[in-house]
Amino acid sequence: MTHPLSTRFTRRFGLSTPMALAPMALASGGALAAACARAGALGLVGGGYGDLAWTQREYRLALEAVDTGRIGCGFITWKLDEDASALDWVLDLPPEHRPRAVMLSFGDARRYAARISAGGAALICQIQRMDQAAKAVEAGAAVLVAQGAEAGGHSMDSLNGRATLTFVPELADWLAANAPETLLLAAGGIADGRTLAAALVLGADGALVGSRLWATQECLAPQGAKDVALATNGDGTARTAIFDILRRKNWPAPYDFRAIRNRLHRQWEGRVDALRAQPEEARARYDAGWQEGDFEAAHVTVGEGVGLVHDLPDAQTVIERMHLEASTTLARHQTTPDFPPNRNG
Ligand SMILES: Cc1cc2nc3c(=O)[nH]c(=O)nc-3n(C[C@H](O)[C@H](O)[C@H](O)COP(=O)(O)O)c2cc1C
Repeated sequence: MTHPLSTRFTRRFGLSTPMALAPMALASGGALAAACARAGALGLVGGGYGDLAWTQREYRLALEAVDTGRIGCGFITWKLDEDASALDWVLDLPPEHRPRAVMLSFGDARRYAARISAGGAALICQIQRMDQAAKAVEAGAAVLVAQGAEAGGHSMDSLNGRATLTFVPELADWLAANAPETLLLAAGGIADGRTLAAALVLGADGALVGSRLWATQECLAPQGAKDVALATNGDGTARTAIFDILRRKNWPAPYDFRAIRNRLHRQWEGRVDALRAQPEEARARYDAGWQEGDFEAAHVTVGEGVGLVHDLPDAQTVIERMHLEASTTLARHQTTPDFPPNRNG
C-alpha cells in the first residue's frame, strides 16, 4: 500500500495500515475479518455475545487469512461472565490458528486476562471513560480502545459517555504518564481518511472502525439494512435502550445502544420505562419486522459516522481509500515523518 502510516500499532501487529475492524456482533463475520486482514488491518471477528456455534463458523472462515497474522476475535465481557465457551474455544485452537488479539468490551477484563495471555493473544480492552483505564491496564491490556459515544452499537449512555474528540487526547496523555507501553486506538466516528488522520493527530496509534466497515459487501448485515443506512445521514441515529429491550438483551447500566432512529425507535422515545414494563407485544411486532426485513420496524446498527458513508464497496476498497485519504491529509500538515510525533519514537 502506498503512503505508509507507520505507528506503534502497525509495527506491533504487522499491519500496513493503522486500522482494526471492530468486532461487531453478527456483522463482523469471517469473510469481513479476512478481507480486512488481507487489506493490511487487524481483522477482529465479532464474537459478540459469545455464541459458540456462530464463533466457530465465522472464526474458521477468517482462518483463510490466518497467514497474515492479523486475525483476532472480540467478545462482550459481561456475557462471558455467563458463558465463556467461545473464548475458550478460540484460545484452545492449535497455536497457529489462535487469535493474534482478543478484544473485550463492556465489563471487567481482569478475570479473563490470564487465559488470553496464556493463549498467546494480545488483550485489547475497549473503554468508554477515564475511570476504566487503570483497571484495563491492570488487566494487562496491550491496547486500549477509547470509544466515544458517537459509535454505532453499544457504548455508555448520555450521562456517562464521552465524545471521541476529547476522550482520545485525554486518555493519550494519561497513558503517556501512567502506562507508556500501552497502545491506544480511537473508536466512534472514524469513517473516512479525515477522521482517521484526526485520530492519529489526537494521539491515538490507530483506529477501530465499525460503521464504515459495516457498510461493505462482506458484512453479514442484511442488504435491506445497508440500504437504509446509505439513505441516512449523521443526524439520523440515536442512543437509547429501546432496541435492547425489544431484542431481549439484558444489558447492564450504564450501557445503551446507538442505531438508526427509525419509525420504531421514535414510537418508544420518552416511553422506555413503559416498554421495559410491558415489552411482549412490542417484541412480537419487532420480531415480525426483522423477519420481513422491514427496517422501519426493526433496528439498523450504525453510528453517527453513517453520514460519511455513501456506498457499499468491498472492505479492501474502504481500507485503501481511508488509508490514502488519511495519508494525504496528514502530508498536507505534516512537519515530522511519523504520527503522532511524540508517541511513535
Ligand atoms: C453493528 C455493530 C455491532 C457492534 N457490536 C459490538 C460488539 O459485539 N462488541 C463490541 O465490543 N463492540 C461492538 N460494536 C462497537 C464497536 O466495537 C466500535 O466501538 C464502534 O463501531 C466504533 O464506532 P463507529 O461505528 O463509529 O466506527 C458494534 C458496532 C456496530 C456498528
